[in-house]
Amino acid sequence: MNVLGIESSCDETGVALVRATAAGTPTLLAHALHSQADMHQAYGGVVPELASRDHIRRVLPLTRQVLVQAGASLADIDVVAYTRGPGLAGALLVGAGVACSLAAALARPVIGIHHLEGHLLSPFLSADPPAFPFVALLVSGGHTQLMRVDAVGEYTLLGESIDDAAGEAFDKSAKLMGLGYPGGPALARLAEFGDPTAFALPRPLLHSGNLDFSFAGLKTAVRTQLMKLGSNVCEQDKAHLAASTQQAIVDVLVRKSLQALRDTGLTRIVVAGGVGANARLREQLDAECRKRQVRVHYPELALCTDNGAMIALAAAMRLQCNASQASFDYAFSVLPRWPLTAEATT
Ligand code: KG4
Ligand code: ZN
Repeated sequence: MNVLGIESSCDETGVALVRATAAGTPTLLAHALHSQADMHQAYGGVVPELASRDHIRRVLPLTRQVLVQAGASLADIDVVAYTRGPGLAGALLVGAGVACSLAAALARPVIGIHHLEGHLLSPFLSADPPAFPFVALLVSGGHTQLMRVDAVGEYTLLGESIDDAAGEAFDKSAKLMGLGYPGGPALARLAEFGDPTAFALPRPLLHSGNLDFSFAGLKTAVRTQLMKLGSNVCEQDKAHLAASTQQAIVDVLVRKSLQALRDTGLTRIVVAGGVGANARLREQLDAECRKRQVRVHYPELALCTDNGAMIALAAAMRLQCNASQASFDYAFSVLPRWPLTAEATT
């Protein structure tokens, strides 16, 4: 079974082709991605209308590219998968519309996938795939969640951010420092030249006893420090502030992840979503988990941020469990707000 996956929930158009047999981990045949980061850079963040229009321009050329790379043709596609939510409504509609039209034209079934389920399962495409059950730390631009994952579709929310997501904390702090968009990777690069202990920044909810997160106060603390430093802040102080900000976020993510492992008694953790690409987070989590004989799994670096492969993979894994989840009903709706633990409603 070959599954074509289309991701268009935010500012990346991703398309991929995954092959799955009745059992065993599906394999990635080809994937292609277009990031709109350069286009949104000028506005300091994603402009939804521009994002939707760009998805329209990119999705078919990327689909052609994937088929060429895989040495496949349209007739080789057995199922079409798309991101149904959460995300930007207009952007999601592009992927959903193209996926359902393509499936209808090819007389193939179609399946809508939860974006976070894609992230969560993405380490199954890595050279060192996890085994169920595991704790998942989902850290993206829009979400920060700890989940217990027992099987495909069996997700229990353990804790989540009550305000900003970890990626949002990176992005907003980077914007305050004038580092452009997307801020996470830029802030991480600058942090390499700074001292993470230079500024005392808050670690909100670190000792709350539960698994919830809060990052909104951190951004305010960064703003306060920048005001104290004044308008001609030197590059070294900026690097110190970047390193201190990154460290505050990483400390909270690592501490809560370890608590989730303790609370559940599980010995495996999967880290997924854009912030999972952060080298400092990986280094610190790896070190702490090694001490506790906990295995840590990450997606391949290229599949940490949004991509089509994770959507095709999640669809393939869902269909391996229950083939009737794909449908020949080509009417579609998207779910811009959709908790991972809730059943999809039309
Ligand atoms: O998963 P993703 O591509 O999109 C969403 O589903 O939101 O995650 C994007 C987020 C952005 O906030 C970006 O700044 C952050 O991931 N990010 C990073 C790094 N790479 C991406 N944050 C910190 N360090 C990185 N290396
Ligand atoms: Zn994402």
